[in-house]
Amino acid sequence: MDAKLKELATLIKGRDAKVIFFVGAGISTNCGIPDFRSPKTGLYSNLQKLNLPFPEAVFDINYFKKNPKAFYTLAEEMYPGKYLPSKFHYFIRLCQEKNILKRCYTQNIDALERVAGVHEDFIVEAHGSFAKVHCIKCGTEMDSVTWKKLMKKGIPRCQKCDSYVKPDIVFFGEPLPAKFFELWEKDRKDDFTVAIVAGTSLEVYPFAVLPAEISSRTTRVLMNREICADFEDCPRKSDLVMLADCDHTITKLVDLLGWHDDLEKLIQE
Ligand code: OAD
Repeated sequence: MDAKLKELATLIKGRDAKVIFFVGAGISTNCGIPDFRSPKTGLYSNLQKLNLPFPEAVFDINYFKKNPKAFYTLAEEMYPGKYLPSKFHYFIRLCQEKNILKRCYTQNIDALERVAGVHEDFIVEAHGSFAKVHCIKCGTEMDSVTWKKLMKKGIPRCQKCDSYVKPDIVFFGEPLPAKFFELWEKDRKDDFTVAIVAGTSLEVYPFAVLPAEISSRTTRVLMNREICADFEDCPRKSDLVMLADCDHTITKLVDLLGWHDDLEKLIQE
C-alpha cells in the first residue's frame, strides 16, 4: 500500500495534474451516516421496521407511488444538515484549492461535498439531492419549507393535484439528472491524471460503469474497504487498489504530499 501511495502522490504532484472522483456512501460512514450495503451496519440491513418486500423498495418509484410511508419514515433522518464532512470530503475540497480538481461524481444525497466547500460546478450529484421537491404526477414544485412543515403532519401531498410529492432524489426506476449525462459525455473523452473511486460498491447503474469507461490513459485508484466491479472483473495494469478506510488512506496521502496543514486548515475553517 505504501508503494502505491507514493506512486499516487507522485502523480498528483506532477505537472498539470487533473483529478476526477467517483464516490459513494463509504466516504460518509465516518461522519455517522450508514452506507447501504455493508453487512450489519448498512441501511439495507436495518429496515425491518419498514416491512419492505425488498430493501431497495424504500427508494423504488413504483413502490413509493403505492406506499410512500416507508420513504417518509426515513426522509427526516436523511435530510442534510445534521452531519459534518469527513477528511475525504475535505480532500476533494483541497484538490479544488490546489486547482487540480476537475470533477466529482457522487452518488450521495447528503450534500457533504458542498458542505466541505466544493463548488457546485465540480459536483455531479448523480442520484439527485434534497434541494428541490416536486409532485410525482403533475411536476409542480413545492418549496422545502412547506414540504418540511407538511412532513411533520404526515405524508406531504401536492397542493395542486393532491398526489404525493418527493425530493429530487433519483429513485430506482427514474432517470438520472441531465447534468450527469451532459458532463459524462464530455469527461469520458478526457484524459485525467488520476480517477479516485472511493466508498462505493459500484453496484448501481449507470454510475457503476463510469470507472470502466474512463480513458485508459487515466490511472484508476480504488480507496475502498473491499474490491469491487471493474477493479476485480477487468483490472488494468496501472490500477492502484488501496483496501482500507478511505480517511486513513487520505491521511497518509496528504502526509506524503506535504499537504497535512492545508487539509487541517480547511477542516478548522
Ligand atoms: P454501498 O453501501 O453500496 O457501498 C459502500 C461501499 O463503501 C462498500 O464497498 C463499503 O465496504 C465501503 N465503505 C464503507 N465505509 C468505508 C470507509 N470508511 N472507507 C472505505 N470504504 C468504505 O453504497 P454506494 O455504492 O454509494 O442509491 O451505493 C450506491 C447507491 O445505492 C446509492 O446511491 C443509493 C443506493 O441504493 C439511491 O439511493 C438511488
